[in-house]
Amino acid sequence: MEPAGASDSPSAGRGRSSGGAYGLLTRAFSLIRGRLAVPGRVPRVTTGSGSATSGPHAAQPAAPTPATRSAGRLVVLVSGTGTNLEALLAAHDDEAFGGRVVAVVSDRPDIRALDIARAAGVPTAVVALRDFADRAAWDAALTEAAAVFSPDLVVLAGFMKLVGRPFLDRFDNRIVNTHPALLPSFPGAHGVRDALAYGVAVSGCSVIVVDGGVDAGPILAQEAVPVLPDDDESSLHERIKVVERRLLVDVVGRIAREGLTVDGRHARIGG
Ligand code: GRF
Repeated sequence: MEPAGASDSPSAGRGRSSGGAYGLLTRAFSLIRGRLAVPGRVPRVTTGSGSATSGPHAAQPAAPTPATRSAGRLVVLVSGTGTNLEALLAAHDDEAFGGRVVAVVSDRPDIRALDIARAAGVPTAVVALRDFADRAAWDAALTEAAAVFSPDLVVLAGFMKLVGRPFLDRFDNRIVNTHPALLPSFPGAHGVRDALAYGVAVSGCSVIVVDGGVDAGPILAQEAVPVLPDDDESSLHERIKVVERRLLVDVVGRIAREGLTVDGRHARIGG
């Protein structure tokens, strides 16, 4: 992450149709475009089958956020290669998983994660910081880009920016993040590098509920990965990511089926 990290339209899941996904997309585009500060540079809101370019639609209020709820609609935020997204997409085709990725939102264009989403027919939105006058405008646009897909749960899967207060307030206790270290040790953008530099014998990954801190929210699940004598940042990270993908899919699926309860520092799946 940077500086360190990380309703009612069920037809938004796939493809382009006039009343469902396409309507949501045009509404997302309209909302984002309304906040653009740089003329001529518009965040892209596309599906695998084309671009949404217009459509005056009103914003809808966010649903209230009970402490426990099921999480069928998943919006996934990405910044990079998207192997975690890939794992979620592989899982969501199975109805037993309980959740479905209804949209993918990125802060960067031209990343592999977007290609993966488009290939799966999942709507995508790009909300790049450079397209906005300041961080507050970007925060607002990011929030709307996710909100328009009415997520029950937002999954930060390799999203390398901190989400701001508007985003946290909108999706209170409904955002999870995955981190490639055993928190609370080694938070931030370089968790693997920092753990190696410290000289740990065991590292791993954590899935947490996102709060206002840097990788500081309540921990949902963790799994250890041993450090090998010849490990460098890349080799250790790749081994962690194998475990991380499985853990993330497991946690998200369980939340989708059973709900999520957050009580101060403690989070648990189910009621
Ligand atoms: C993951 O290890 C995540 O924890 C970290 O960046 C990596 C993203 O991987 N923040 P990918 O983009 O899902 O392949």
